[in-house]
Amino acid sequence: MFNYIKNVRTVLKTIDNPLKRLESASKKDSLEKEFWDKEAEECLLSFDEDLFRYDENEEFPPRHRYFYSLLESIRGKHILDCCCGYGFTTVKCAKRGAYITGIDISPKMIELAKKNAEFNQVSQNVNLEVMSAHKLSFEDNIFDYVVGIGALHHLNLELAGKEISRVLKPGGKAIFLEPRIPFKWIMVLRSLIPVRCYESPGGGSLSDREVHQFSRYFSTSKPQYFILLRKLFRLPILKRFASKLDSTDLYLINRCQFLKKFCWAFVLEFTK
Ligand SMILES: C[S@@+](CC[C@H](N)C(=O)[O-])C[C@H]1O[C@@H](n2cnc3c(N)ncnc32)[C@H](O)[C@@H]1O
Repeated sequence: MFNYIKNVRTVLKTIDNPLKRLESASKKDSLEKEFWDKEAEECLLSFDEDLFRYDENEEFPPRHRYFYSLLESIRGKHILDCCCGYGFTTVKCAKRGAYITGIDISPKMIELAKKNAEFNQVSQNVNLEVMSAHKLSFEDNIFDYVVGIGALHHLNLELAGKEISRVLKPGGKAIFLEPRIPFKWIMVLRSLIPVRCYESPGGGSLSDREVHQFSRYFSTSKPQYFILLRKLFRLPILKRFASKLDSTDLYLINRCQFLKKFCWAFVLEFTK
């Protein structure tokens, strides 16, 4: 019961996370650093080789497949993995022949991402640095792509938008896979469903309004929506049917445009 109440409170807090609007990005950064350092420390203590071993034929859900399909021709390109965390995207891009720089606010995550790159033998193409996406220390116009999975929703989009656009080459692309808030009232209902909510103190899904504001720093933006019925199947009792709903979701979303309003994730593609 205690866990259930805690879960409801966590979801309700992330509906309109006040940290997103926090004036001081440095306060947000230090909370995020503390949270993710702990997370990474556990992974470093018992490095799970099976989890981190790169598998070219790994089966991904549709949203990840779409995200990586936008990064098919990246051999020789310069890429910034924003909020690189465990380094999964970093390793995948390096395996595809890109020169990739990963940045993260958490030093322990950077240590973990380095271990991941070494383990998968791509260190020569990878540069990993502790840095905040709110203040990038790179020169203007140097990256062909800026990418991130589960990145933007941890950031102050005003600061990050300016910085990401600044370091991208003209015509360069920023591509992110992020959780989305469909409607506030859906989030309230969702909070009553007893599934574990996993969110860092500065996190909280993105609204279309926030994405619209972020897109001001780019010349074009294109969202692609995912996760409709599949969301219901996070209930433990229904979980084993979840993957079967991926294709149903894709079918419905592509045919009935209005359903995108109810989707729980999107891949966002911006061009500078
Ligand atoms: C969900 S994890 C990202 C997972 C990662 N993209 C992957 O695929 O392995 C979110 C990451 O964002 C990082 N983060 C949060 N705020 C940040 C900031 N201001 N600048 C850089 N990284 C930040 C956290 O330290 C954490 O590692």
